Parts: sequence; C-alpha cells; structure tokens
Amino acid sequence: MIARLFSGFAVPAGSALAVAGLAAVAALTMPALPEAARLALRAILVLVWAAYAVQLGAGWPASEGKTARIIDILAVAVPPFGLVMARGGADPSILCGVWAVKLLRDLPAFRLVLRVAGNEARNLFGVLALFALILFAASLLAYLLEGAAQPEAFGSVPRAMWWAVTTLTTTGYGDAIPHSTLGRMLAGLVMMCGIGVFALMAGILATGFAEELRRQDFSRVWQLVAGVPLFAGLPHRDLAEIVRALKPRRLAPGAVICRKGQPGNEMYFILEGRVQVASASPVELGSGDYFGEMALVSGEPRFATVVAATPVSLLALHISDFQTLIERDSTLADTIRHTAEERRRSPTPGS
Ligand code: CMP
Repeated sequence: MIARLFSGFAVPAGSALAVAGLAAVAALTMPALPEAARLALRAILVLVWAAYAVQLGAGWPASEGKTARIIDILAVAVPPFGLVMARGGADPSILCGVWAVKLLRDLPAFRLVLRVAGNEARNLFGVLALFALILFAASLLAYLLEGAAQPEAFGSVPRAMWWAVTTLTTTGYGDAIPHSTLGRMLAGLVMMCGIGVFALMAGILATGFAEELRRQDFSRVWQLVAGVPLFAGLPHRDLAEIVRALKPRRLAPGAVICRKGQPGNEMYFILEGRVQVASASPVELGSGDYFGEMALVSGEPRFATVVAATPVSLLALHISDFQTLIERDSTLADTIRHTAEERRRSPTPGS
C-alpha cells in the first residue's frame, strides 16, 4: 500500500535528489570552499544517500525492471566506499557521482537513445569499423611520412594515432602537425574522411530516431484505433493502413472542431471526452462516436458547428485517406453513409 503510494513520485523525487547530490559533489571539488559550506554540502550527500537507502530498504520502486533495481542498489552501495578512499587521503564524496546513472536511467530520452543504438547497432558498427580502418591507415601513412622528422609525435604507429584521431575528428589540438607537403596533403584527406564518417553516423542516427518515433507512434495509435467500434471487424492489414492515416488530437473544452458552412477535409473519431453538435436541441457525442463525415460524404460544407464539451481526445482522418478507406471497405462505407443520411434527416442544427 505504502509502496504504491510512493511509487508515483519515487522517480521525480529520486531524480531531484540525484541533481542535488551531484551539484554538491561538483561544489565539493572547489578548493577555496569555506569549511562551513563544505560541511553543509557533505550533509546534503548524507541525506540523499539516506533517502536512497530508505527507498531501497522499503522496496519503493523508483523504476521498473532488473537494471533499474541494480542501479538503485549501486546508488546506495558505492558511496560508502568513499570512506575507505578517505583513509588514503582522497575526497570521499566523489563516489556519489554514481548517482548520475540514476538520472540517466530515468531520462525518457536516454531510453530512446539506447533503443535506437540497439536497432542501428549493425550500421553503427559498420561506420565504427570504417573509422578504425581510416584511423589505422592515416596513422601508418603519417608514421611513414613524418616519423623520421618528428619522432616525438609520429615516431611509431601508436604515437601517430593521436594525431590521426584529432585530425579525423577535426578537433585539431595543434600539438602534432605534419611539416612535409605530403604529410599536409594526408592531413587534408583525413579531415575530409572524418567529416564523411561523422555525416554517415549522423545520418544513421537521424533515420534511427525517426523510425523509432514512428514505430512508437504507430503502436500508440494502434491501441487507440482498436478501441473504435467502427473499426472492430476490420482485417489487420486495413487496420494498419488506418493507423498510419489517423492523427491523434487533444482539445480543451470550448475548442471549435469544425464550423457550420465551412468546407470540411477531415472526419473525427472520439476516443475520450465529449463533443457538442450545436443545434436548437444540442446533440452530444462521446467515446466511440464519430463526426465530420457528412462534409466528406457529400462534398458540401459542414452541416453543423462541433465544439469540445470536455477535454477531448480525437483521431482525425484526412479526406484523401477517408476516400481510400471507403473504396476499400464497402461495409464501412455503407455504415458511414447511413449515419450521414440519418443525421441529415434529424432536426436541422443551428450555428
Ligand atoms: P459535417 O457536416 O462534416 O460536420 C459537422 C458534423 O456534425 C457532421 O458532419 C456530423 O458528423 C455531425 N452532426 C450533424 N448533425 C448531427 C446530428 N443531428 N447528430 C449527430 N451528429 C450530427
């Protein structure tokens, strides 16, 4: 019971504590800090550690999963080793830096990065292999061209590798510079290769992120669409088409969704909340209902104004996708046309 009560804010509270703890760790590395401030910062570290220990002992889950549990254990188990370090004269607070992992774990963006890295592992590995190959070739050539003249920087392939890395990544610290013309030509080539490799890496990651977000969106909309009664009997192939076409919308109460007399290019499925069709005797539609079909079926302007009566969650279907859908499924087309006709026959809505 208590665990359930606390699990709701265990993650944000855990992250806030980690931020406070890490800020204290960073501040404690400043040599000119007054002793009183140092004591206060150490007290913060002890409090954060104690909070994590209580959380772990009481079994309040800060996050789901085995890895999350291991991180919770590490957050409590690692800092006390600082006391052992302190005997050797080292700063004991530095081990509290392990709390950064807690923050990282609870960051949704980090989970996304891990998933993208997992999905794109093969391609990323390919680019890394290419990077390693160019690095080796560049180091070898730099050793041959510059090794005799500058043994400090280029005297062996491993030594030349430092120059190759800083050049390939276009960092260029300037501590190792080829002097010969051929060496400089090689440097130019390596820089261009570096730009190419990183462009390739950025391309792979950008595509990976876009695909992962699209996949997440697809499964979220799939779950929503499965709950719409009109689509209940559709085969999976058609359902997948609709999922790609439908766009989720959230609207605040009072928002006008469509206005009488205006052209219509979308129809809507209500997932949650209620909308009001303005008329002399207003009609309310709720979860599972749809509206905005009349303009799409007839090609005429909107028959009525529809306003969100509560916070409402909708799925919008564009006219082009609507046409594809009704061409493909005649039962669905008949149901929608029948509803449109019935609504047209009911008392004329006002503005
Ligand atoms: P459309 O004319 O495209 O835009 C306004 C929508 O309100 C309309 O499609 C119908 O979906 C809906 N609507 C109009 N009249 C009624 C009614 N009497 N009952 C329920 N919905 C209606």
